[in-house]
Amino acid sequence: MKKLFTGLQPSGALHIGNYFGALKQTVELCQTHDGLVMVADYHALTSLRDPQELRSNIIDIVRSYVAVGLDPKKTTLFQQASVQEHTEIAWIFDCLVSVSFLELAHAYKDKVAKGLEANAGLFTYPMLMAADILLYDTDIVPVGADQRQHVEYAREAAAKFNTAFGTTFKEPKEMILEAVAVVPGTDGKKMSKSYGNTIPLFGTKDEITKAVMSIVTDSSGDKPENVYKIHRALKSESQLAPLYEVNRGKYKAIKEALVEDIEELVAPMRAIYDSITESDVRDILKEGGHRARAIASKKMHDVCQKIGVAI
Ligand code: ADP
Ligand code: TRP
Repeated sequence: MKKLFTGLQPSGALHIGNYFGALKQTVELCQTHDGLVMVADYHALTSLRDPQELRSNIIDIVRSYVAVGLDPKKTTLFQQASVQEHTEIAWIFDCLVSVSFLELAHAYKDKVAKGLEANAGLFTYPMLMAADILLYDTDIVPVGADQRQHVEYAREAAAKFNTAFGTTFKEPKEMILEAVAVVPGTDGKKMSKSYGNTIPLFGTKDEITKAVMSIVTDSSGDKPENVYKIHRALKSESQLAPLYEVNRGKYKAIKEALVEDIEELVAPMRAIYDSITESDVRDILKEGGHRARAIASKKMHDVCQKIGVAI
């Protein structure tokens, strides 16, 4: 079986865009791959400084993955911070790549372009992500299109190390999750926690209803486009056609139908989500961390020999 590795930052509550764009597909791919799914907590530290929030986001991601169908017995679900080799290898990669190379990375470049000061963690972010991926001899990395460059950086880090010290790391391939379109938010822009336009994945029915009712509608066409685009993530064109035909101009009725369709999808997953206790989460992460560390420490041993710190 090919090895799959992916990560998700615990930087905020998950929304239905994350579900269709990342979680659902990752869980499906894990059925046919030897999978590792990592909670990228150290990456989240580049933007988050609230320990209580970080803790609760980490727990939320684990419950979410299990609720959408990831089997932690089969797929290794673990926290980045529980495997120290990630930050160790990241340092080694930092020493192999140039400042000008890192300056071209999008996350850093975009921040600087907005006139904001980036922290050094954001600057070296791609090398920590390279470490995540390369420690496990990963074949494929399923990610959204926005992460393509980071996987290219991981390949570059692998090539640099292999050239300098001999073949050690496998060069991974990205698998861009673009089978589904980008899910728009309640304002029509890409649904994103940073825009505050989300429909929460595991919100209560009331919270989902409130978000759906706030979707901005434009009465110029024959159907409310923003509502329709979100609806299309759940149902096909032909499934939706009769609903939109019968309710032409009746936006409230269409929104109510959307709430019911989201609820139908989410309710069974929410029941699982609610049943997972914090103690279950700790057990899952403990087991996952144990399995990940076994692989990572072996690779680190090899790396230490190759670079000469093992004397
Ligand atoms: P956000 O934009 O809310 O901060 P992230 O950047 O943390 O989301 O994205 C995590 C994953 O979810 C990525 O793989 C990303 O491609 C996917 N994703 C995020 N928003 C959407 C969306 N609106 N539609 C489809 N996929 C999305
Ligand atoms: N940078 C990714 C994101 O923001 C999260 C991530 C961290 C990741 N390490 C990874 C994704 C390794 C894939 C593989 O979405």
